[in-house]
Amino acid sequence: MARVLSCIQPTGEVHLGNYLGALRTWVVGQHEKDVFHGIVDLHALTVVDQPGIVGRNTLELAAMLFAVGLDPDVATVFVQSHVPEHSQLGWIMECTVSYGELSRMTQFKEKAAKREVDFVAAGLFTYPALQAADILLYDADEVPVGEDQRQHVEITRDIAIRFNHRFGDTFRIPRAVHPRAGARVMDLQEPTSKMSKTTSADTGIVFLLDDDATIARKFKRAVTDSDSTVRYDRESKPGVANLLDILSATTGEPVERLVDRYSQYGPLKTDTADAVVALIAPIRDRYNDLLSDRGELARLVRVGNDRAHRVAAATLARAHTAIGLMPST
Ligand code: TYM
Repeated sequence: MARVLSCIQPTGEVHLGNYLGALRTWVVGQHEKDVFHGIVDLHALTVVDQPGIVGRNTLELAAMLFAVGLDPDVATVFVQSHVPEHSQLGWIMECTVSYGELSRMTQFKEKAAKREVDFVAAGLFTYPALQAADILLYDADEVPVGEDQRQHVEITRDIAIRFNHRFGDTFRIPRAVHPRAGARVMDLQEPTSKMSKTTSADTGIVFLLDDDATIARKFKRAVTDSDSTVRYDRESKPGVANLLDILSATTGEPVERLVDRYSQYGPLKTDTADAVVALIAPIRDRYNDLLSDRGELARLVRVGNDRAHRVAAATLARAHTAIGLMPST
């Protein structure tokens, strides 16, 4: 059975980009594959600098992962900091990746530029090494992610191949898997930038916990263009292309068919908002139910942590042996 690993940061509310680009694929995969999904709180520390926030977001994100449909009986949902092997293998990965490779990561360049007046943590730079550890610890074959994570999975492959070459065959080489539609959901106000909880303004982001009226308003105000013909062209009509992509991803209808159906932006916006509401309203209800029993949520996470730890500990031991570190016993 193929092994799947993918993770999400607890850095704020889950949005439509996360859902269409990643979470939905995770849910579909869980019945065919052996799936591991981490809430990567240590990654979130690269941008969080106040006490108390990450832990609360982590539990709420666990509720969201179960609300979108991950079934704790088949999917392993865990918290990164509860499985210490992530940090341990992360250091080894830092020693297997070069400064030059990390310097070429577009996500680091973008995030560091956006924080120029702020504190740029070294962890923001070494982030891909920890992400490589997340993936390689689970012998993952597939990593279902949005387009923005493509480069991070590529560098993970490079690191694994280098490690195997230096120390002998240790890690399975993973590959990124992207959904057919929804792999790159753009900001509704700035459709040339991806929808992102760390960089976009709230008006351009559809959160899974937004109420129906807010979602309708956000789509109504979505930026389009003055040309007023419905065509799919990401370059010259990014706003319209984004609406068509979202409608296609939520209804399953191919973009080519949708283009024929609409001649005006108004109905395209309304139908897209309605389709999104229909998709996420039930998730919101399940989320609220799940959060009403925080003890049970924490228990489900502990079960996931134990399963994750068993797999991760075996892989870390294999890596230590391959390197030839002195055994501790
Ligand atoms: P994160 O937390 O930013 O996002 C979680 C998932 O959502 C996808 N995504 C999107 N997909 C389509 N359109 C968008 N606008 C959009 N925004 C986000 C992301 O591609 C991702 O799949 N570095 C990762 C977390 C991570 C990870 C890992 C992922 C840490 N270790 C190991 C996979 C495997 C991140 O920041 O994702």
